[in-house]
Amino acid sequence: MRVFVTGASGWIGSAVTEELLAHGHQVLGLARSTESAARIEAAGAAVLRGSLDDLDSLAAGAAETDGVVHLGFKHDFSDMATAWRTEHAAVQRMLDVLEGTGKPILIASGMPAPEGGLLTEQDVLPFHGPESMRGGGENLALSYAGRGVRPVAMRFSPTVHGHRDHGFVAFLTDLARKHGVAGYIGDGSTVWSAVHRDDAAVLVRLALEQAPAGSRVHAIAETTLSTRDIAAAIGESLGLPTKSLAPEEVEPYFGWIAGFYGINVAGTNEHTRELLGWTPVGPTLFEDIAAGAYTNSTYAQSQ
Ligand SMILES: NC(=O)c1ccc[n+]([C@@H]2O[C@H](COP(=O)([O-])OP(=O)(O)OC[C@H]3O[C@@H](n4cnc5c(N)ncnc54)[C@H](OP(=O)(O)O)[C@@H]3O)[C@@H](O)[C@H]2O)c1
Repeated sequence: MRVFVTGASGWIGSAVTEELLAHGHQVLGLARSTESAARIEAAGAAVLRGSLDDLDSLAAGAAETDGVVHLGFKHDFSDMATAWRTEHAAVQRMLDVLEGTGKPILIASGMPAPEGGLLTEQDVLPFHGPESMRGGGENLALSYAGRGVRPVAMRFSPTVHGHRDHGFVAFLTDLARKHGVAGYIGDGSTVWSAVHRDDAAVLVRLALEQAPAGSRVHAIAETTLSTRDIAAAIGESLGLPTKSLAPEEVEPYFGWIAGFYGINVAGTNEHTRELLGWTPVGPTLFEDIAAGAYTNSTYAQSQ
């Protein structure tokens, strides 16, 4: 299959590109800069110059390939409204092109857990429209299941971890270094799911190849890691103590990530494993942290 991959130069996208190429697919990667284009080419993929704001480039990529993996996203947490509107417009434009073609489109999504439980693959996210979380992209894409498209929602764990990860766990590690203590909120009983980047890449390929139209797939290897244990692992890797933060300490310590770290962002994975025959092989998040995956990493934003 020739696959259009947005975000092919990113953390997950580069692993997905490698995985697709290793399994006989061809990749056309969207690149918004010379540096990103060079990274994609070095991986052995072809480049389409464009951007998430250039809807014609997205339409061209979707039209000239056999399927789409949409991983590009504006990770500017100071302006999520723009990121969400961009996401909605990008997904809509690609769906317009794909309607009636029978082609697959897999889009990256997330997993806010329902109050008091884990998100299941059957749960429908309550986000619709460009002003909602992730631009309502998941529901928008899945609504095309009966319209000659094979849409699949790939809900990634909040930490897709590994060496060189620059995401949330890198950010939490930066905070621990900065404050001299690895903090968690309250009793630290809120939970996050986790998946290693290589396992996530395999799952993306399997879902692209096999998942039925309308599937919600969970990229989750470890379903529930408490935020207290995550903080303890980070603290141990840096030789720093772990500390429960009182309500008045949370915002000054965590900043924008407090909203994520203080809630459950976790789900189930049994249905995903059965549907696609996926068996994550790790390493686990705590193995990565203990092996020094975050000791020298820093958080990086792409916008
Ligand atoms: N990593 C995680 O733990 C995690 C967890 C849950 C969900 N997700 C979701 O999974 C997807 C992939 O995440 P990731 O960790 O791989 O992100 P990432 O490393 O930040 O990569 C983002 C990708 O999007 C591209 N991009 C950003 N703005 C763009 C624009 N305006 N035009 C074109 N391309 C643009 C980047 O291109 P450049 O290389 O040019 O910057 C990069 O290739 C995202 O939707 C993310 O929200 C990730």
